[in-house]
Amino acid sequence: MTKIKERGEVAVQLNHLLDFGEMTLPEWDGLYQTVEQIIDHPEDFLDACRGKVLATTFFEPSTRTIFSFQAAALRLGATYISFSDPNNSSVSKGETLRDTIRIVANYTDTIAIRHSLEGAAKAASFYSPVPIVNAGDGGHLHPTQTLADLVTIRRRIGRTEGLSIGLCGDLKYGRTVHSLLGAMTRFPGNKFYLVSTPELRVPRYVIDILEAGGHEYHEVSTLDECIGALDVLYMTRIQKERFASEQEYKSQAGIYILDGEKMKKAGDHMLVLHPLPKIDEITDEVDLDPRCIYFDQARYGMFARMGLLLSLMHKGRLSPVYPESNVEEMRCHNPKCITNHERYLPQRFIRPERNPAELRCEYCDAPARL
Ligand code: CP
Repeated sequence: MTKIKERGEVAVQLNHLLDFGEMTLPEWDGLYQTVEQIIDHPEDFLDACRGKVLATTFFEPSTRTIFSFQAAALRLGATYISFSDPNNSSVSKGETLRDTIRIVANYTDTIAIRHSLEGAAKAASFYSPVPIVNAGDGGHLHPTQTLADLVTIRRRIGRTEGLSIGLCGDLKYGRTVHSLLGAMTRFPGNKFYLVSTPELRVPRYVIDILEAGGHEYHEVSTLDECIGALDVLYMTRIQKERFASEQEYKSQAGIYILDGEKMKKAGDHMLVLHPLPKIDEITDEVDLDPRCIYFDQARYGMFARMGLLLSLMHKGRLSPVYPESNVEEMRCHNPKCITNHERYLPQRFIRPERNPAELRCEYCDAPARL
């Protein structure tokens, strides 16, 4: 029988998971070992979180993330409370995010939050006496999807380093892309092919991460230019909901379609991942190709979240930070930043380790306009 980690003997030391980059590699390694135990011996974890309660507070639609979090809690013997439509909660009466989190934390041991605004999970973490998990904040980050992606890659390829990885589609607004790129740059020898139109290129702060780490990367406009060289192809959807207008969306939709002809140019070993949902970017014939493992990836996501909850749900009560602003007369200029919607939030800027010369919003990573 597998030995379940004792309370306190947790893989993840972090109090909150807001960005995979905040997790050390030994923490990731410990988490992965736990996830493997869960995959191989799920029966050993049936009571691992008995008596604990998870909250899934989803201000934006979801199928995989919300259900996999809830299933993860149930499979650990925990329970969950949830809203998936803020209009059915007191948010619709004008309750702030800060108060919503303080209330939900009264009833729960961990809160998974999804929000359409960037930096919302970070803001929640400042006021929460229980761990906050970022389940996707607008076009910014989606670290538990990254855990699902990394578990899939490591389980199926056996390693997360020395790989050629293509990321295709909406690299600008794709939070899963930003999180995955940030994560894969932490492992040595990975090479990146960024396949997009000029309009949907990755944001500057992600390019800065690639360049600061000296990683080989190529920005290309077609899949044909790189598919034969890839170990992993990460397809993404063009996300209608992130565009300012229907016209802007239509100008980008349907440009990248993975079909049988393109798959013929890929190696037999290449794996196709996709965070899902997919619309038209992968044809039905390709869906049946054994190299396409995105449905398995979604299942690994549940196991990854079980491993994470196993660490977070036993943390006990935390001391919220309630920070003050660390700048004078300066605001984040990103209209999608949570601080421009929840106006009580203190403005906070940080100097990223990778480039201490610049200032970035601590919530959403947007560069400061001085
Ligand atoms: N991958 C993902 O985040 O899917 P959902 O939006 O369905 O949760």
